[in-house]
Amino acid sequence: MAACAEIDTGLPGFRLWPQALSVTAQSALVAEVMTAIEDAPFYQPATPGGRPFSVRMSNLGPLGWVSDRAGYRYQATHPETGRAWPPIPPLLLRLWDDLTGWPAPPDACLVNLYRGRAKMGLHQDRDEADTTAPVLSVSLGDTAVFRIGPAGGGPTRTVRLTSGDVCALTGPARLARHGIDRVLEGSSQVVPGGGRLNLTLRRAR
Ligand code: SIN
Ligand code: MN
Repeated sequence: MAACAEIDTGLPGFRLWPQALSVTAQSALVAEVMTAIEDAPFYQPATPGGRPFSVRMSNLGPLGWVSDRAGYRYQATHPETGRAWPPIPPLLLRLWDDLTGWPAPPDACLVNLYRGRAKMGLHQDRDEADTTAPVLSVSLGDTAVFRIGPAGGGPTRTVRLTSGDVCALTGPARLARHGIDRVLEGSSQVVPGGGRLNLTLRRAR
C-alpha cells in the first residue's frame, strides 16, 4: 500500500486518505473483486417501497447488506443465487486493520457498481448491530461527488472521491447522512467496462 496520509476534512469523525491505494493496488483490487463477484453476480436491489436502486450491488464476506420488500438487513446468502457471499480479499482486511485499528475484522463488504447515471440518495448506515465500529469505504474507478452531513440533519457538503481514495465514518460521523450525487462518467479507466466500484467494509454483527 502507498503512504497513507490522512487529511483534515473539517468534519469530526469523517476521515479521508486520498490516494491510499496506488494505481497498481487499485487495479489488483478491482481484478480480485471482479473475479470474486463472478460467484456472486451484481444484481439490482429495490427499496422496501419497491423502487429499484440505480446502483448494482453484491457483497463479500460472511454477511451481505440487502434490500427488498422485506426491508434492509444483513444476510449470509446472495438473494438471487442463494449461495454464500465470496470471502473479503486479504488486501481489504489489511487496509481495515491499518486504517481503522479496530480490534475485530469487518464481517461485511458491500460492493456497489455505479454506471451511467447511477447515484445513491442520502442515508445513514444504521443496520449494523454495533454502530460504534467504523465504516471504511474504498473508491475505485470514476470520480464520485460524495455528499455528507450531520446525523441529526443540517447543512451537507460535497467531497470528490477519486480512484484509490479511502474514507471512514467514525465517532461523531459514524451515523452521518451521506450519499452519491453523481459519478463523473469516463474520468477513470481503472474499472474494466467503466464506472465506479465502491467497497464498503463494516461490522454487521
Ligand atoms: C454507500 O453509502 O453505500 C456507498 C457510498 C459510496 O458509494 O461511496
Ligand atoms: Mn452508506
